[in-house]
Amino acid sequence: MRKVFVETYGCQMNEYDTELVKAILAEARYGFTKDELEADVVMLNTCAIREHAHRKIYGRIHDIKYRRSQKHNIAVKDDPVKFGILGCMATNLRTELLENRNLDIDFIAGPDSYKRLPQLISESFGEGAKGFDLTLSEFETYSDIYPRREDGINAWIAVMRGCNNFCTFCVVPYTRGRERSRSLENVVDEARRLADDGFKQITLLGQNVNSYKHEEHDFADLMAAVAQVKGIERVRFTSPHPKDFPDKFLDVMAEYPNICKQIHLPLQSGNDRILELMNRTYTQDEFLKLVDKIRHKIPNISFSTDVIVGFCSETDDEHRDTYEVMKQVEFDSAFIFKYSERKQTIASRKMKDDIPDAIKTERIVELNELQKDISLKKNQEHIGRIEAVIIESLEASKTKDAYFGKADSNKTVIIRKQGETGLEVGDIVHVHIEDASPNVLRGAIK
Ligand code: SAH
Ligand code: SF4
Ligand code: F3S
Repeated sequence: MRKVFVETYGCQMNEYDTELVKAILAEARYGFTKDELEADVVMLNTCAIREHAHRKIYGRIHDIKYRRSQKHNIAVKDDPVKFGILGCMATNLRTELLENRNLDIDFIAGPDSYKRLPQLISESFGEGAKGFDLTLSEFETYSDIYPRREDGINAWIAVMRGCNNFCTFCVVPYTRGRERSRSLENVVDEARRLADDGFKQITLLGQNVNSYKHEEHDFADLMAAVAQVKGIERVRFTSPHPKDFPDKFLDVMAEYPNICKQIHLPLQSGNDRILELMNRTYTQDEFLKLVDKIRHKIPNISFSTDVIVGFCSETDDEHRDTYEVMKQVEFDSAFIFKYSERKQTIASRKMKDDIPDAIKTERIVELNELQKDISLKKNQEHIGRIEAVIIESLEASKTKDAYFGKADSNKTVIIRKQGETGLEVGDIVHVHIEDASPNVLRGAIK
């Protein structure tokens, strides 16, 4: 039996796709290994969202090849291993990857071609030409495949794939194609099966998860249906787009206690001219009004966001608008990125990546400092409260004397042990929060 090693980069959708790939390969009678030096097939499920994402892949391929040749005492070119590239870099760089002699890749498959992997792999062991399938589909949702997940309490379900938004900086519409959704029944069936398998927390995934639409069902219907599945203690979703937050959806969120009161709401920029250049379809004012509306309907909501600094032609004053919006909204956490020009995107074709890296660095440092203070302040507001925390590990990474868990807000909680017995991963405990830092809450079971 051929043994496959798969490594995953990028977002949760890619993690989910790796679980799909494993299910497809297990069905085709492949085995798996966690040791890249012993595998017969090495596959990297790649990301293309920012520049360092693909530099990392090139480095990793060379590193694996070199260490395999050392270990097996053979020249790199004589190693019978097959290397495959999956995921977004595959559809972003396309055949350029196969033609790159330095990399010497054997097969590539884009995000909609994973059902063809058994064939592509077996072809790569033959004499013929290298195999690739980069076709993007309008229909493929893999709804007939039950992903092969690691044991645990957290599971992802991709409910829609692809993106129709074409934000001008973003490569995803090109790497993953058009939006398509699974049926509500099919998603609920998967959630039921997950509950039967002992999973407690489900995160519904999509590049624009709240644009979910299948026949008469929208995202509000889907969330409500999944929240009603017995045994599912927590439901989350990511990533939504600010354009799709109808009252109906916010009402569902407020109504179901097991829908976590947490929203990842990507801002990208706080300046109207830049938002327009990015094709985000909202203004600063509309974004701020949405935040107010959500806070009004769901007072205990926690927000995270994504921000890009140094987008084409962004001035200091325009950057300042982003700073002010972040200061005003007070997100619980923020992921801040330097703009990185990506092949195929509208920005790469029509705009100039003209902000020097040193200025991008200044801007990112400034926003990170601001956010660190805000995160600390927001976390300190939890001190003294009792929070429901789901235990994800019976030992925290730095100490055995604490449990590791997640609050409803998705904040990490380190729970000091007090001699409890019989606690298990997946239990929800009530924790008295005693201390906070920008990244974690600390406390003990009440
Ligand atoms: N569909 C998600 C985004 C997925 S990409 C959404 O709309 O929220 C995750 C984040 O990466 C984006 O929110 C954006 O902040 C960042 N990003 C995407 N393309 C980028 C680029 N070219 N340069 C820098 N950051 C980028
Ligand atoms: Fe990219 Fe925009 Fe689509 Fe998100 S909504 S995946 S940022 S194009
Ligand atoms: Fe990366 Fe593709 Fe996800 S580009 S962030 S792996 S959708």
